[in-house]
Amino acid sequence: MTRVFRSVGTRLSLALLLVIAVALGIVYLEVVPSLESRLVNTRIAQLETAAASLRRTISNETVIDPDLAETARASTGARVVLFEGVDNPPTLLPQQDSLGGQNSSDVENDRFALRALETGRSQHGTVQGGKDRYAEAAVPVFGDTYVLLLRDSLQNQYSSVHLVQRRVLFSAGAALLIALLLGYGGAWVFARRIRRLERAAERIAGGRFDEPVHDSGGDELGDLAAAFERMRTRLAHLDDARREFVANASHELRTPLFSLAGFLELLDDEELDEPTRNEFLESMREQVTRLTKLASDLLDLTRLDAGRLTVAREPIDLAGLAEELVEEFGPAARAGGHDLELDESDGAVAEADELRTFQIGRILVENALLHTPPETPVRVRAFRRDGMAVLEVEDEGGGIPEERQEQLFERFFRLDGTRASGGGLGLAIARELAQLMQGRVELESGPGRTVFSLLLPAAQGDESAFSRQKTAGAPT
Ligand SMILES: Nc1ncnc2c1ncn2[C@@H]1O[C@H](COP(=O)(O)OP(=O)(O)OP(=O)(O)O)[C@@H](O)[C@H]1O
Ligand SMILES: [Mg+2]
Repeated sequence: MTRVFRSVGTRLSLALLLVIAVALGIVYLEVVPSLESRLVNTRIAQLETAAASLRRTISNETVIDPDLAETARASTGARVVLFEGVDNPPTLLPQQDSLGGQNSSDVENDRFALRALETGRSQHGTVQGGKDRYAEAAVPVFGDTYVLLLRDSLQNQYSSVHLVQRRVLFSAGAALLIALLLGYGGAWVFARRIRRLERAAERIAGGRFDEPVHDSGGDELGDLAAAFERMRTRLAHLDDARREFVANASHELRTPLFSLAGFLELLDDEELDEPTRNEFLESMREQVTRLTKLASDLLDLTRLDAGRLTVAREPIDLAGLAEELVEEFGPAARAGGHDLELDESDGAVAEADELRTFQIGRILVENALLHTPPETPVRVRAFRRDGMAVLEVEDEGGGIPEERQEQLFERFFRLDGTRASGGGLGLAIARELAQLMQGRVELESGPGRTVFSLLLPAAQGDESAFSRQKTAGAPT
């Protein structure tokens, strides 16, 4: 039962019914009584006018016309009774009655006639006589010793009122029925669309993103369906990305693990000579390093996805950071025969997280050393441009094809023929970290020159003060 009352259809119909019922109720209460009083008053006024004119007509007569009541009935259309008045106590004696032979007991002591006799002025109103109601007008005549009473049934007026009353009630009933049907019909259409959206929401909640959400209406429900559809495509996209991420991550983790398992088996061989054993151990160490790096990269990405990675906002001297990078990668560069240099850097101070900025710098320098042929020169520099602090890593490698440049920043993406150094996650992490610090990573590449730039918001305020502070605090 309560479920029926909770349905939109029932509520809408009830609301419509209520509005119409109230409107019709007001019409009924306003129209019927005013119509009734108008019709009744009109008849009373007519009788009053007729009585007054009769009084004027007979005012000069000295003898009472024996057919007075009869003649007056013909001209007014009402029953006319002529009373003679007696004082003390005031009593009315019927003299003539246009009803003829019937006795006039029903109008004996008529209220208005008596009052007209007593006051000497005309009186009017309605009286109840048996089952009917009558309009009456009474005037004193012949030196106020007689009273002329005009009386007419109000049956016609009341039946007109009852007719209108019935019509209004009938129309009200019909209007309420139509409202009920319209309310239910309209609500049914809406409820069907809402239920379709509900089913779509449940499908999406259940992880099924294949079926599009569609509603052709251009109203709010149509807008809601469009919003649902946007949500569905976004979730479907995220779901695909998640699956792909898990698949790629497992694949990347499996490769070094297989290789480790293989080496372990080989190490079991007792006839293995010392140099070979050391070579195996070295390879195993490399695989473990690779696994560790992969695990920490994956952890970073998961934190980035979950929005759980927070970054500090502190002033960082990018020139100092570039110098440290060159120092840190010096041995690796020499091992690969690369010429790693620090270019002239100005006092670019960024407002960012120092550790994360360093992480991005490492990713870029490592790429420049790993993905270029041996002996390729690599340069690192820091400067200020358009209100941003920039850290640039430039190499003179073969360059990156234009159509691949955007893909480079996707997770697990590696160019064909690239050394399988890591998981292809470096640049993806670099870009997301930079965005987290309100910065970005840009790439400009052509044959013989590739530049990756990390742009970070420049620190507000006096940079030279920062440099002085750094210099003062630095060990000499
Ligand atoms: N300086 C560069 N010159 C040429 N190619 C580059 C350069 N830097 C990156 N790339 C290409 O972009 C790909 C993606 O780089 P990214 O740093 O994301 O992954 P990766 O270096 O392969 O692995 P990871 O950094 O996770 O260890 C690289 O595999 C390489 O093909
Ligand atoms: Mg890399």
